[in-house]
Amino acid sequence: MSTSLVLASKDYRDDYVRALREGFRRGDQSRMKPGAIDKIDADFDRFLAELTKQTGDILLPNGKLVLRVPQDMCWLVDDRTFIGETSIRYRLNDWLFQIGGHIGYGIRPLYQRQGYGKLILKLALARLKAGGVDRALITCYDHNIASAKVIEANGGSLDNIIDDPRGGGKSRRYWIEL
Ligand SMILES: CC(C)(COP(=O)(O)OP(=O)(O)OC[C@H]1O[C@@H](n2cnc3c(N)ncnc32)[C@H](O)[C@@H]1OP(=O)(O)O)[C@@H](O)C(=O)NCCC(=O)NCCS
Repeated sequence: MSTSLVLASKDYRDDYVRALREGFRRGDQSRMKPGAIDKIDADFDRFLAELTKQTGDILLPNGKLVLRVPQDMCWLVDDRTFIGETSIRYRLNDWLFQIGGHIGYGIRPLYQRQGYGKLILKLALARLKAGGVDRALITCYDHNIASAKVIEANGGSLDNIIDDPRGGGKSRRYWIEL
C-alpha cells in the first residue's frame, strides 16, 4: 500500500464523485447536496478547472472579493482510491491570516479515524515547506476536536482562540515551525 499526495486530477474522477456522495466534505464546508454532485459528475473537467484555478478573484464568506493566493489543491490517494483533500496556500491574505491559514484538509468519511488526518497534514506541511514557507498557520473550529488533535500531533502551537468571523463559534489558531 502506498499512500501519496498528488495534485487533483481527473484520474481519480469516479472515486472522488463517489466520495462526495458518501458525504466527503472539503474542510469546514457543508456536505454537498445530491444535485450539486450530479452537476460535478456531468462536467468534471469544469469542476476541476474551478477547483484548481490560480487566478482571478475569490468571494470570501464575509462577502468581500479578493485576489486568489497561489495554492495547490492536492488529493491523498492510494492506487485508484481517493482518501482526502488538502488545499495548500503559499501566501496569506488578511482573511487567511485571521481564519483559514496556509492549509485546509478533509478526509473521506470511510477513511476517518485511521490516522489519515495526521498524515495528510504532515504531507501538506512538507509541500508547503518545499514551496518556501517556514512557518505555517493552521486553524480549526474550537469544537473540532479531531482537527485540533491532527494539528497538535503535527507540532501545532496554539496562538489564540478567536470569535470565528464566519460565525459558528470560536476558532483556534495554531502555528507550526517548518
Ligand atoms: C478532521 C479530520 C480531517 C480528521 O481526520 P481523521 O483521518 O479522522 O484523523 P486521524 O485519524 O488522524 O485522527 C486524529 C485524532 O482525532 C481523533 N478523532 C478522529 N475523529 C474524531 C471524532 N469524530 N471525534 C473525536 N475524535 C476524533 C482520532 O481518534 C485521533 O485521536 P488520537 O490522536 O488521540 O489518536 C476529519 O474528521 C474530517 O475530514 N472532518 C471533516 C472536515 C474537517 O473538519 N476538516 C478540518 C477543517 S479545519
